[in-house]
Amino acid sequence: MTIKHFGPTKLDAALVPEIARKWGTPLYLHDQEFIENSCEQLLSMPNPFGLHVRYAMKANSDRTVLRVVTNKGLDLDCSSLNEAARAHTAGIPYCRMMLTTQEVPTGDERVELERMIRAGLKYNVCSVTQFRLIADFAKEAGIELSIRVHPGTSGGGESQTRDTGSEYSCFGVHLNDVPTVKAMADQLGLHFTQVHVHIGSGGAPEKWRENIDRELGFVRDLFPDAVRVSFGGGLKVARMPGEKQADIAELGAYAAQRVAEFKETTGRELKMEIEPGTFVVANSGHIITRIIDKKLTNEMNFLIVDGGMELLTRPLLYGSKHPITIIRQDGTLLSSEYDSIPSAGTKPFGIVGRCCESGDSVRLDGDGTIVPVLIAEPEIGDYVVIGGTGAYSESMSPENYNSHRKPPAVMKTRSGELVLIRQKQPLEQIFQNELDVEL
Ligand SMILES: Cc1ncc(COP(=O)(O)O)c(C=O)c1O
Repeated sequence: MTIKHFGPTKLDAALVPEIARKWGTPLYLHDQEFIENSCEQLLSMPNPFGLHVRYAMKANSDRTVLRVVTNKGLDLDCSSLNEAARAHTAGIPYCRMMLTTQEVPTGDERVELERMIRAGLKYNVCSVTQFRLIADFAKEAGIELSIRVHPGTSGGGESQTRDTGSEYSCFGVHLNDVPTVKAMADQLGLHFTQVHVHIGSGGAPEKWRENIDRELGFVRDLFPDAVRVSFGGGLKVARMPGEKQADIAELGAYAAQRVAEFKETTGRELKMEIEPGTFVVANSGHIITRIIDKKLTNEMNFLIVDGGMELLTRPLLYGSKHPITIIRQDGTLLSSEYDSIPSAGTKPFGIVGRCCESGDSVRLDGDGTIVPVLIAEPEIGDYVVIGGTGAYSESMSPENYNSHRKPPAVMKTRSGELVLIRQKQPLEQIFQNELDVEL
């Protein structure tokens, strides 16, 4: 049976051995067309008075990815000074970035931050301390600020570890502290022209809608100077079959209606802003690994592949599921969790990586126990392809654990060409900063 594609991104199974022969395994694979289509979908979100879309670059900070996204018209949300500097190195001007960070830069970093702000970087105040540190400079430089408000309401994320709105997370200026910050701002004549709330990643759409209503209440009651409202990121993608993806048109229609009503009751026109990361890149990515060994215990059949938690930590961190596809060495599709392949002869296999860590697996439950994946039995040398890995994989993994080298990355371009966008990390790079010290 010839299956032309699998997973949320169309990918011809026959390409897998071709890619593996050329660049080896493991390897990250991205898809330009998919990323561009996601950007277009986001840019078409309904809005009454304008929409600004930022890509949360923490999802994948590779320069080629950043260029694809910004060429489509998205700007960036950066979570550290280093991310901003990195994007700048990729050729993106500071005026296309906003900094939303937990950092409190001092010394040289403070100088660097001021330089970036003067060059156009927008600063999103995320704590009282950050505001105190930036206030005099903001007044002197005549800049307008954004403020991230901590709503103190949980339920924004797919799990506790991705919920940034609850009282157990510390992101943004808590509502209790907003009056203090406002009083200081008023005294200095500073204005918050943007209000921002990001409640977490991958939560239910009703939580996103609730946040819109709540946030517009903050804008109305607390921020009379705000002309923009950012609803943050967190738009859910469907990685596994059966999962439901955020409906951008539906969420946009809701937001647009609320923002239009806001104008009717207050006379104020607000430009909408969103800053998704996952939605832009998650399903554009696959990790290609090769089966290097098989083992059997009394409990489980294991496939050992040549890349695991050091490439993709989400299963261990969150119990996240990613669709698994098995490709034979000749490029035929043996088994796919995505397409409905005949299930005759399937067996449960624990799929694990090479790290000396019992949680190094592509599928785990919330307690860290390996969950077997039902697949047709492959041979050593066949490929295990992990889908939905374009976001928070290469940007978030504990790379170099067990001294494994960060794998190369390849972009499938719009024309179908396969282009190496990052080389395999040289071994020396892992230890190049260590010093030969005599003790
Ligand atoms: C402030 C902020 N904005 C946007 C995002 C992007 O979230 P997602 O990738 O779920 O869209 C994050 C993710 O952690 C974030 O912290």
